[in-house]
Amino acid sequence: MSDIRDKMESLISLCKRRGFIFQGSEIYGGLAGTWDYGPYGTALKNNIKALWWKRFVTDRDDMYGMDAAILMNPRTWEATGHASGFSDPLVECKKCHHRFRQDQLADPERCPDCGGSFGEVKQFNMMFKTQVGATEDAASISYLRPETAQGMFVNFKNLMDSRHPTLPFGMAQIGKAFRNEIAPRDFLFRSREFEQMEIEYFIDPKDWEKAFEHFRQEVHAFNGDIGLGRDHVHELEVPDADRAFYSKRTIDFEFDFPFGRKELYGLAYRTDYDLARHSEYSKVDLSYFDEAEKRRFVPHVIEPSFGVDRSLLAVLSTAYTEDEMGGEKRVFMKLAPSVAPVKAAVFPLLKNKPELVAKAREIYAMLKKALGAVEFDDNGNIGKRYRRQDEIGTPWCVTVDFDTVEKGAGVTVRDRDTGKQERVGEAELVARLSGTIS
Ligand code: GAP
Repeated sequence: MSDIRDKMESLISLCKRRGFIFQGSEIYGGLAGTWDYGPYGTALKNNIKALWWKRFVTDRDDMYGMDAAILMNPRTWEATGHASGFSDPLVECKKCHHRFRQDQLADPERCPDCGGSFGEVKQFNMMFKTQVGATEDAASISYLRPETAQGMFVNFKNLMDSRHPTLPFGMAQIGKAFRNEIAPRDFLFRSREFEQMEIEYFIDPKDWEKAFEHFRQEVHAFNGDIGLGRDHVHELEVPDADRAFYSKRTIDFEFDFPFGRKELYGLAYRTDYDLARHSEYSKVDLSYFDEAEKRRFVPHVIEPSFGVDRSLLAVLSTAYTEDEMGGEKRVFMKLAPSVAPVKAAVFPLLKNKPELVAKAREIYAMLKKALGAVEFDDNGNIGKRYRRQDEIGTPWCVTVDFDTVEKGAGVTVRDRDTGKQERVGEAELVARLSGTIS
């Protein structure tokens, strides 16, 4: 147990020390369930989102990107059932008044903080309520969306009318979602504000199994894109009793987080539930006419749903590595080059030699143009620079030394994982590094 806590604490402290992730509103004592991404965390997150968008949107010809509003007409949540049913069981200790999610307590009868007994179980709706506009009446209440999915369903007709797609096709969206979780926990794992990457893939119901299988495989392929090993991802076939009543099949993709095997993503066959309900509540026809078969029906949906922050936590926790190099302990982030926030760092061997600095600046400019995320560093000694880049997860450190400028002997390229260095000619450098990154 303490090993797990130690690993999580070391990871959280590295994330703060190096500018990946900070506690939300930290200078005011924080706000539970919120996290702020710093420069490297933002870059890592953007890389994950870009790889997802590439695989699921730009590389395909049957997917339509969306970016719907976070605030939606509250009728949306009546139609979906969130207004009445999106709740967790809440209990409050009669003695210390601490509140807990009842289904997460080891002993549902006793308060884990003081041993007191609980009052009755209440259903706590997890949607954040807010006021839209200047009047404060019931009609002005809206909610921060608890999932991005509904922004796509309510635009089904707009997409049909503007782009005229034929089945099967999908809508894809990346965006924030908000849930007033009773017990946010485990760093980014369960927070109150997070991001989702979701697809609503519309199909003829007879084709559901084929589409489900296709996305099951695509989920694994995406995990490969961001460097998550297949052996740490496990499929859980969600049993009938635990599935949403409208779902005919759901798989949870679980990941071996340091604190245990927990849900990373979900894949659900949502039938025609959402479109049918929105059609009923809005009185707008959301059916589809199959020209070839002259048949009208409400399309069914396969929904792969990915948490951005959980992907990031899975990536960070697998990457976090402690080893020994040159007789010294070191910590490094073994990030896949595809997601690493910095792809390469360029150093002059010595800071006070203008010819080395000038050459290093020239190489830096060349690499930055080709690879984008490249850093120049001449602070401290070379060992310190390596340690800093290792903790950020930079795959390659490029050093300009005297042989580079005096003999035209190329630069040294150091491999983050092994610490091994090799000389690479200036002319080959871009091809050598870019070949390993995408
Ligand atoms: N549209 C379906 C949907 O929202 P979900 O299983 O409730 O399904 C999908 O959420 C994904 O969103 C989860 O698998 C997880 O990756 C992420 N997620 C859900 N709640 C979260 C939270 N409180 N904090 C961080 N990520 C969360």
